[in-house]
Amino acid sequence: MEEFVDKLEALQILEREEFKELLLCNDDYIFERARCVAQNVYGKNIFMRGLIEFTSYCKNNCYYCGLRAGNKEAERYRLSKDQILECCKTGYPLGFRTFVLQGGEDAHYTDEILVDIVREIKATFPDCAVTLSIGERSYESYERLFKAGTDRYLLRHETANDEHYKTLHPDSMSCANRKKCLYDLKKIGYQVGCGLMVGTPNQTLEHIVDDLLFIKELQPQMVGIGPFIPHSNTPFNGKNAGDVHLTLNILAILRLMQPNLLIPATTALGTLDTRGREQGILAGANVIMPNLSPVEVRKKYMLYDNKICTGEEAAECVNCMKNRIKQIGYEIAISRGDCAEFQR
Ligand code: 5AD
Ligand code: SF4
Ligand code: FES
Repeated sequence: MEEFVDKLEALQILEREEFKELLLCNDDYIFERARCVAQNVYGKNIFMRGLIEFTSYCKNNCYYCGLRAGNKEAERYRLSKDQILECCKTGYPLGFRTFVLQGGEDAHYTDEILVDIVREIKATFPDCAVTLSIGERSYESYERLFKAGTDRYLLRHETANDEHYKTLHPDSMSCANRKKCLYDLKKIGYQVGCGLMVGTPNQTLEHIVDDLLFIKELQPQMVGIGPFIPHSNTPFNGKNAGDVHLTLNILAILRLMQPNLLIPATTALGTLDTRGREQGILAGANVIMPNLSPVEVRKKYMLYDNKICTGEEAAECVNCMKNRIKQIGYEIAISRGDCAEFQR
């Protein structure tokens, strides 16, 4: 086990069997090395992103997600440009220097509407980064949004294995198009984030190795990883949630594989374990994404059951996170938190 950790730390690629052994290991050594690597690049700074969940409409029907179009129980809402700007105005004095606009795939938000929103945020907060996380769009659309000033784009690939992808999504969606979108985004010049869920139905260790190899190839700036958590109004109701320890091992492997990655300690991790986000940071994560959405809409953005931080004001979550992070010996940086240059 230690041998493989050291090999990864020396930036050598592992054999599939070696990756599998690390994924299954139960040893703090991997976390210690991952923390050390993270600290060499980013110190003990944790970057904060303000998450603005601006639309709960979605045309897609991913089998795992509570916002899927087929979930007729889901309450839908859209935030106006003014409401989105209000979220930013709340976030700025709390120390946020990145705003992440996330939503389902909602045709209401045309390029024109989004360009106008992004321009206004960038004009009002010139020292802030804007991240979009609104799913699959055309090359031309991504290009227009980039030219409007968008800095980053998050699009989790969910699983890099085509067969597995088909068991999580209806035929209208494809693994190949997902990957194409990610390469398009990189080509245009975005800082790009991909990512996966851990423990989705039918997922095997081989699939996770495929994910690691895909990430190695794509070389994204960010990777979001959280455990799968079932939602009661989806086809995956009653399925088991993902494993927290396996999630932490994957975080640590990614930190060792690509030292400068931006890796969030996700809300899903914090939902399955009260100390999940702290454990994520101690396994090599360096980003947290507190919610800046208006409290009135929080409970309507339910990707999975029992999501945490849906009743607290942004300021409450920021204070809570500050304390949690301080307790483990880290601190929140007031910074855009861009990706450090490749150090190889
Ligand atoms: N459990 C965990 N994560 C989920 N997501 C969607 N549904 C679930 C779920 N049931 C994740 C997906 C998506 C991101 C916004 O939320 O990975 O890309
Ligand atoms: Fe829509 Fe995204 Fe949920 Fe899929 S995961 S149903 S694309 S909001
Ligand atoms: Fe939201 Fe602790 S981070 S309540």
